[in-house]
Amino acid sequence: MAETLEGTTAVVTGASSGIGEATARALAGRGARVALLARRRDRLDALAGELGDRAAVFEVDVTDDAAVAETMAAVVRELGGIDVLVNDAGYGSMVPALEADLAEWRTMVDVNVNGVLLTTHAALPHLVEAAQGPRGVADVVTISSVAGRKVASPGAGVYAATKHAVNAFSEALRQELAARHVRVGLVEPGLVRSEMTEHSGAAADAEEHFALGLMEPGDIADAVVYMVTRPRRTAVNEMLVRPTEQTR
Ligand SMILES: NC(=O)c1ccc[n+]([C@@H]2O[C@H](COP(=O)([O-])OP(=O)(O)OC[C@H]3O[C@@H](n4cnc5c(N)ncnc54)[C@H](OP(=O)(O)O)[C@@H]3O)[C@@H](O)[C@H]2O)c1
Repeated sequence: MAETLEGTTAVVTGASSGIGEATARALAGRGARVALLARRRDRLDALAGELGDRAAVFEVDVTDDAAVAETMAAVVRELGGIDVLVNDAGYGSMVPALEADLAEWRTMVDVNVNGVLLTTHAALPHLVEAAQGPRGVADVVTISSVAGRKVASPGAGVYAATKHAVNAFSEALRQELAARHVRVGLVEPGLVRSEMTEHSGAAADAEEHFALGLMEPGDIADAVVYMVTRPRRTAVNEMLVRPTEQTR
């Protein structure tokens, strides 16, 4: 029997588009109050307008230590705690090393690794506290990638390195927090239609090769909702989710 999210607060980074936006919508649909985090305030305001009193907007760059710490404190002040953290904000630039721009590599490491570390570090004490409350459990879900599980492919070396890094961090954190009843899980999507894959051309390429198409952001939001609505005795540690026809 799935647990309700009524009375809980969920923080979703990257809530201004794609998987993060769909996840925020899905968690609010299950009864959570959702803190929407990203840099594009207009996009967050539009989503908050749709979700009404279930949502609050926090404009933040997840690579900025001080801003992330201030934001988590503001979430707790305004929404009363943190029961669920979804680390979704991410960036991908798939270029072979010989042609790569170092600034792009740095952005991937900053957003995909440091962003996850900073938001998780700032939220952790509140998650531990929430796990001692009426729900009796708290959740950290990080949106990694198939690229965090499989051996990297050409052009995806740095992106894959960032996702392997967060997978390693997440597994250690899972072991550290199990006794405190904070569940730590990974969702590892294959190709999903989003700004990231529309801009890179990966979505168009997948449309051409997959008769059934690529996944939609809501397919990954479903995986996150499944994880965080398990009975408190059950932790889903990892979900690898691909389009039916994606082989690698
Ligand atoms: N699409 C796929 O096929 C796929 C597959 C596997 C894994 N993923 C992962 O899924 C996650 C979401 O990606 P998506 O596909 O939904 O792409 P997307 O639509 O481009 O969304 C990326 C999100 O990250 C936020 N973000 C980026 N840099 C940020 C920063 N410095 N501070 C705060 N927020 C930042 C963006 O918001 P702002 O620009 O408003 O800040 C946006 O909301 C990423 O971690 C990605 O690696 C995607």
